Amino acid sequence: MPRVFSGIQPSGELHVGNYLGAVRNWVELQREFECFFCIVDLHAVTQPYEPRELESRTLDMAASLLAAGIDPARSTLFVQSHVPQHTALAWALNVVTPLGELERMTQFKEKSARLSSVPAGLLNYPILQAADILLYRADRVPVGDDQIQHLELAREIARRWNARFGRDFFPEPQPLLSPATRIMGLDGATKMSKSLGNTIGVLDSPEAIWEKLRPAMTDPARKTRYDPGNPDICNIYRLHQFFSSGAEVAMVAERCRTAGWGCLDCKRVLADNMIAALAPIRERAAELRDNPGRVREVLAAGAARCRALAEATMAAVREVMGFLAAAEE
Ligand code: AMP
Ligand code: TRP
Repeated sequence: MPRVFSGIQPSGELHVGNYLGAVRNWVELQREFECFFCIVDLHAVTQPYEPRELESRTLDMAASLLAAGIDPARSTLFVQSHVPQHTALAWALNVVTPLGELERMTQFKEKSARLSSVPAGLLNYPILQAADILLYRADRVPVGDDQIQHLELAREIARRWNARFGRDFFPEPQPLLSPATRIMGLDGATKMSKSLGNTIGVLDSPEAIWEKLRPAMTDPARKTRYDPGNPDICNIYRLHQFFSSGAEVAMVAERCRTAGWGCLDCKRVLADNMIAALAPIRERAAELRDNPGRVREVLAAGAARCRALAEATMAAVREVMGFLAAAEE
C-alpha cells in the first residue's frame, strides 16, 4: 500500500486555509492509504516563537487534527521531536543537498527577508522536511501549492542520496494537491496564513467567524450595494464554493453580478454555512480539550510506532553510508 506522509506546524491554530488546503484531504486519504501525519515542532522553531507557548500549541494542534477527523485507528499521528531519527536522517541528507538549491527556495527568501539575522535552520528547513518523508519512505505527500517547491527539492535529495550511495533506497515523493490548493486570507490578496493575521480559525466561535468575515475584502467594484460585481475575483465567492450548496453558489454569483444584494448579505450566508460546517469539529475539539490525557495517549502511541520504523531506516542508512556500528556494551 502506498504510504502518505504530511506535516503541519504548531505555529498557530488550525485555520480554514490549511484545513481546506491540506487537512480535509488527509481525512479522505486515510480510507485508501497508510498515513502518517506529523506535527512538525522542529520546523516551527526555525522562526521566532514563544517557548512557553509551544507545548500548548502542539497539544491544541493535535486536538484540532483529531477533531477534524484524523482517526488514530487508521492513521499514525505524532509529534516530530518525539522521534529523534528525523534530525539524524536530516544530517545524512544534509551532505548531499546543494547549498544553491536551498538558497533558491521561495519560502526561505520570503521568511529570511523578514528577519534581521537569518538562522541556518531556516535555510536547512527543506532538508528536515525531506527527512520527514523519506524516513518512512513515503511516496505521496498531500500539501497546498506553497509546498510544491519543497517537494521538488525532496525528490532531488532522494535522487542524489541514491546516486551517491549506489542504492535505489529512497522513493521520490510526489505531491497530492487538493482542489483548494491556495486559500486566500480575509484581505483577499495574500494566502491565508497565521503570520499575516488574515485567518479564520477552524475552532473560532460563530461570533468570531462573523466578526472576521464582516469586514473581509470583496470585489472593490462593489462600492455600494447597488454596484454590480464580478464574483470570479471575489474571495468570498471562492469560499462559498467550499462551504455552500451548488444552488447557493449559483445564486450568490447571480446576485453579485446583478447587484441583487449587498456584500454583507452574501457574507451572512457564507458565515452561516461555515459555522454549520465547522460546528461538529468545534464540538469534538471541546471534548478533547477536557480530556488532554487522551490526546497525549494518541501521540505516545504514534511516536512509538514511528520510532520503530524510523530506526529500521536509520540502521540501513548508517550501514550504506559506511559508519562504524556502535558495539554492544
Ligand atoms: P503550515 O500551517 O504552514 O504548516 O501548512 C500546513 C499545510 O496547509 C500545508 O500543506 C500547506 O500547504 C497548507 N496550507 C497552509 N496555508 C494554506 C492556504 N492558505 N491555502 C491552502 N493550503 C494551505
Ligand atoms: N513545510 C510544511 C509547511 O509549512 C510542513 C511540513 C514539514 C511538511 N514536514 C513536512 C509537509 C513533510 C509535508 C511533508 O506546510
